[in-house]
Amino acid sequence: MEFFGFFVLLFLAPVMASSSTGMPRLKQGSSLTVDKESEFLISPNGTFSAGFLEVGTNAFGFSIWFTNSAEKTVVWMANRDRPVSAKQSKMTLNRNGNMVLTDAYGLIVWSTDTFSTSNVEAHLLETGNLVLIDQATTHFIWESFDFPTDTLLPLQHLVKNTTLVSVRSKGTHLSGVYNLKFDDSNVLDLIYNGPQLSSIYWPIVSNGVFAAGRTPYNSSRIAVLDEFGRFISSDELEFMASDYGFGPKRRLTLDYDGILRLYSLDESTGFWDISWLPGSLDSCHVQGLCGEYAICTYKDLKPTCTCPDGFERNDLSDWSKGCRPSVNLSNDHDKLDFMQLLNTNYYGYDLETLKFTISFEDCRNSCLTDTRCKGFLYATDGQGMCFPKSQLVNGFRTPDTQSDAYVKVTTVSSPTVSAQADELICSDTEILLTNNDAKGENSDKNGYMRYLRWFVGSFGVIEVICFGFWWCFVFRKHVNEEMINMGYIVLALGFKRFTYTELKRATKNFKEEIGKGGFGSVYKAILDDGRVVAVKRLEGILQGNTEFWAEVSIIGNINHRNLVKLWGFCTEKNHKLLVYEYVKNGSLDKLLFSDSSPALGLEQRYKIAVGTAKGLSYLHEECLEWVLHCDVKPQNILLDDQLEPKVADFGMSKLFKDVTHDVGFSRVRGTRGYLAPEWMMNMKIDAKADVYSYGIVLLELVSGKCVSDFLSAVAQDNEFDHLVQWMTNKIKQEGLKEVIDPRIPENELDMKKVEKLVSVALLCVQEDRHSRPAMSKVVELLLETEEQA
Ligand SMILES: *[C@@H]1O[C@H](CO)[C@@H](O)[C@H](O)[C@H]1NC(C)=O
Ligand SMILES: *[C@@H]1O[C@H](CO)[C@@H](O)[C@H](O)[C@H]1NC(C)=O
Ligand SMILES: *[C@@H]1O[C@H](CO)[C@@H](O)[C@H](O)[C@H]1NC(C)=O
Ligand SMILES: *[C@@H]1O[C@H](CO)[C@@H](O)[C@H](O)[C@H]1NC(C)=O
Repeated sequence: MEFFGFFVLLFLAPVMASSSTGMPRLKQGSSLTVDKESEFLISPNGTFSAGFLEVGTNAFGFSIWFTNSAEKTVVWMANRDRPVSAKQSKMTLNRNGNMVLTDAYGLIVWSTDTFSTSNVEAHLLETGNLVLIDQATTHFIWESFDFPTDTLLPLQHLVKNTTLVSVRSKGTHLSGVYNLKFDDSNVLDLIYNGPQLSSIYWPIVSNGVFAAGRTPYNSSRIAVLDEFGRFISSDELEFMASDYGFGPKRRLTLDYDGILRLYSLDESTGFWDISWLPGSLDSCHVQGLCGEYAICTYKDLKPTCTCPDGFERNDLSDWSKGCRPSVNLSNDHDKLDFMQLLNTNYYGYDLETLKFTISFEDCRNSCLTDTRCKGFLYATDGQGMCFPKSQLVNGFRTPDTQSDAYVKVTTVSSPTVSAQADELICSDTEILLTNNDAKGENSDKNGYMRYLRWFVGSFGVIEVICFGFWWCFVFRKHVNEEMINMGYIVLALGFKRFTYTELKRATKNFKEEIGKGGFGSVYKAILDDGRVVAVKRLEGILQGNTEFWAEVSIIGNINHRNLVKLWGFCTEKNHKLLVYEYVKNGSLDKLLFSDSSPALGLEQRYKIAVGTAKGLSYLHEECLEWVLHCDVKPQNILLDDQLEPKVADFGMSKLFKDVTHDVGFSRVRGTRGYLAPEWMMNMKIDAKADVYSYGIVLLELVSGKCVSDFLSAVAQDNEFDHLVQWMTNKIKQEGLKEVIDPRIPENELDMKKVEKLVSVALLCVQEDRHSRPAMSKVVELLLETEEQA
């Protein structure tokens, strides 16, 4: 035994030694693999490292990061929109001079697309530039500096054909909607590049580009940050870091909130200080936050969207969809009027160029008679400036805004509908403030506290929206186009599109039905490659093929041991089918409620409870996208040959979404008995509804009684007093032992575990959803007992 241990140590020694150092170069024919943490490149003085970095659960990106920042600050990523899995993915420098990133299936996810007949090595330079060097000529045949992601490093050139693209939301690395690049008139701009609109929001050029200190005359289009912290661009934009001088490590990053910031690393703490940001740019000027007609204001320094009076939100989950008039606008002149909004500006989309000394009446008339005009701005500084607008977007209001906006409305629309203001502000934001944001560290000493608040505030905005709704809105907004353009996520994860004939053959013309649910029937099938799968034939889907594909791809992206894996799908004409892994032992209800099978032991039931909780917790908290299940019940908990549970049917609420309904307020889905009270009260449904259903399943696991048996006996009006009431009463009167399923073998009874199951279950089924624990907490509670045992 000792000998063996010694042997292992001896074997590991070289690996451990190299783990702290990293490698100086990658030679031809060798690779860096995702599973070996010791395999990464390091720059000569150690400032930068390059290798695989975890970007999500079971998702890795090949990245370059600052070695000494507190959290590995990523400055570049090869596959930001196409993460690879934690097993067998690798970056290889091929003998032909091409560096390729391959995933677990050996598919190429990314490559430098280079070729060389001579010897090539990959080096990570001290500047943070990853280069392929032709050893014969010492030329770089490829460099990461030519392909920036959201960050520009000192000495890295931003040129004609390069663009910084922000991340989509805080904590992710996916491409977002904000760009920094040279526009066609040679000016370096910040651009909102949204799904419908695309517009420049910085520099703010209401008085012309020269007033902003820029020039369109130099067409060299080059910008660079030097080693001292001075940024110079060919359009004459120039600025300096507040800690100007040689020494501090710096980066210029276009953050997810659309604001460009220069950061300097505080080597003593590993945190970043903001050493410059565009002073003229406020969060409310960043576009895409509030959509058409909506107005951005600051509330406790947080940017907040509101609809004007007489307008209502288009999409309760997504402010970027803007507002619409509560009553239709008509083109009947007699009925048209304008609604005044004080100190308000809608930026861009002027119908005519600058007009001075126009009377208010003339300005009003010019908009009234132009059917393209949706409203106008009138300057309040006495200069008589008039701006008729074809679009009322990018609205913002501050006390010092020198204009009033006039929105065209019909007179019949008396503003009786109250404005849906301030929906972005929500108490949940406070939780998010505790999220330590390295970027803002020490910033109040620099006087940037204000910015930090906005920064964190707009993060709150996005997160809060995610919280109660089905899907993260940032993801929703772009998922379709992206999924279509980049079907590769689908490819990368082995997710497949099947043809109908293929599935018809595999199921032997839908012969063996193994289940039937609210969404359709499930058939056993054998694919051409021999895999046994379950094919679900969906009924009643309203979505088009593209949207279906997009949604399904997201579900296919979810990988967890306690979730049934989706292997693929088919959408042809009216046929919509999903192909799942086949889970051998069928659903929990069959084992739990039928007399024929040998009864489940307590140990097995406990394992099922834990596994199910883990699966749901993953869905709620760890997936990149928030997925609620909405129909947790034994019929949807499948058991494999080891009796490990796998939750089935998640994501269905998304596929069957009711297009005519407001997002977040859903029509009742799920099964009587397992439904949380809030479903009945038409309240917003969040993850806690699943927690309730899970609690009911736990009670069933302990008692062996099915909740539906109680429903038939009990009157409708106390829908929620069923199994829960029975259990609590019985425990009070006769003791815990009396509620236990009599089929559980006596010798297996571990009262500690029974107690734990019942107490967790009762926590989960509390009427007030705020008192119910999150699924991750449930997992924690259940595992406590396991460890003690
Ligand atoms: C790397 O370290 C050496 C020795 O400490 C120093 O002379 C050199 O300037 C450093 N290079 C960079 C790019 O920081
Ligand atoms: C930009 O152009 C340069 C020079 O033509 C080229 O080397 C580089 O690969 C291009 N970058 C991108 C992102 O296309
Ligand atoms: C254009 O900008 C480049 C880079 O900043 C500079 O070197 C060059 O002198 C400029 N050209 C003119 C004509 O100003
Ligand atoms: C507005 O017009 C649309 C289509 O013309 C119509 O379907 C809708 O009911 C109208 N809404 C109101 C509030 O009048």
